[in-house]
Amino acid sequence: MTDIVTLPVTIWDQHIAEAEQDLAVDVLERGDVLFFPQLSFPMQEDDGYLLSPTVAGDGKNVSLDPATRSLRGSRGNDVELRGLKNMMQRFAASSLGLIRKLLPCYETGLEQARTSFRPVEIAGRRTSWRKDDTRLHVDSFPSSPIQGKRILRVFSNVNPRGESRDWRLGEPFEQVARRFLPALPAPLWGSARVLNLLGITKRHRTAYDHYMLQLHDRMKADLEYQSQAAQRAYAFPGGSTWMVYSDLVSHAAMRGQYALEQTYHLPVSAMRDPSRAPLRILEKLLGRELT
Ligand SMILES: [Fe+2]
Repeated sequence: MTDIVTLPVTIWDQHIAEAEQDLAVDVLERGDVLFFPQLSFPMQEDDGYLLSPTVAGDGKNVSLDPATRSLRGSRGNDVELRGLKNMMQRFAASSLGLIRKLLPCYETGLEQARTSFRPVEIAGRRTSWRKDDTRLHVDSFPSSPIQGKRILRVFSNVNPRGESRDWRLGEPFEQVARRFLPALPAPLWGSARVLNLLGITKRHRTAYDHYMLQLHDRMKADLEYQSQAAQRAYAFPGGSTWMVYSDLVSHAAMRGQYALEQTYHLPVSAMRDPSRAPLRILEKLLGRELT
């Protein structure tokens, strides 16, 4: 069962003792959640108006591309958009401060990816089953193949009323993979090339991306699995922060409004124990290389 391991960090770039750094890497790589109940992201006075779901237009979140420094999915006037971008940039910098102090062993391989702001209430949101994140899943995205890299995510609940963000956490990755892999089709020969040529994927969809996407979809599509799989519920209070390898940890977000999230990518080779990567676990079970 997924564990929630608490660390008493209160400041984003606080010095962290070596023993705690060691613990943090182990917790994350084995597929548990690292929880910082006293680490809140400070909103500034003029961020108040950003706490309206309308800044995300008709979507569920706003994202900030680290390469182009541009916002996607946002709606508002110039002043509002500048404020929104500023808040998201501050979160990106804060999360990087935390990672540098907490996980210095990842320093060389780590890439800061997208920042997202999630101002829309999860409960009652209407969406297709594939996009429904209230169903247990591991993260994998159809248009953004990651070619075996890890997805490490930092979440902060910035709900102004202190309301929690409620998750479910499922069974360990290897158990999920053993359950679904036997029924998954192998990638069709040439399909990755066609998807890339048509611009459906941003880069080549490797066999690893294919299997992760299949796992994501089969988990979400199987309602019996959703209710029967071993799982636990956990409520992350307003003003708290947590960190997880979301490609490894089966998770579902059930309820909550206003969160910030920063994604990092990490090559498997930069992990302390690469054998714990979803890539290596799938390769072991399938008996072949996947990237
Ligand atoms: Fe997810």
